[in-house]
Amino acid sequence: MDSNKKEKRYIRIITQIEELIKKTSDPLARMSTIIAILHHKFNYFFWTGFYRLVDEELTVCCYQRSVACLVLEKQKGVCWAAINKKKTLVIPNVKKFPGHIACDSRSASEIVIPVWCDDKIVAVLDVDSKDLNSFDNIDAKYLEQIAKKIYG
Ligand code: SME
Repeated sequence: MDSNKKEKRYIRIITQIEELIKKTSDPLARMSTIIAILHHKFNYFFWTGFYRLVDEELTVCCYQRSVACLVLEKQKGVCWAAINKKKTLVIPNVKKFPGHIACDSRSASEIVIPVWCDDKIVAVLDVDSKDLNSFDNIDAKYLEQIAKKIYG
């Protein structure tokens, strides 16, 4: 997707998300709404969802598309790596990421964004694409802004 078009679309989406989530401070309602919007606005978003970090376990929360792994194996894969590194990870080719957890074998690239509540990571936003190299620093920048709104 053309960078300029992508950036403009994110800016419009953020306005839409802000309008909707101000109706409640409930984080699950906000997360579900964010997923519903994101998943339908970008055709390269093949799987879009949140995993919540509760009691040292990553358990799937709201998501769209194919059935996910309900609980991710501890300290393995991209989601745990993003939590341990405390930063967004953009993975151009998941097959080259050691320990990648493939809930759907069609996934080819991925981005994972930590969700913070105060000074703690409480969830991750995870998006998979069927194509290689789908995500870049524009996705990272705006998805981080969106993730900050959940507890903002
Ligand atoms: N690929 C992730 C697992 C979650 S699925 O992409 C839905 C990982 O390696 O942590």
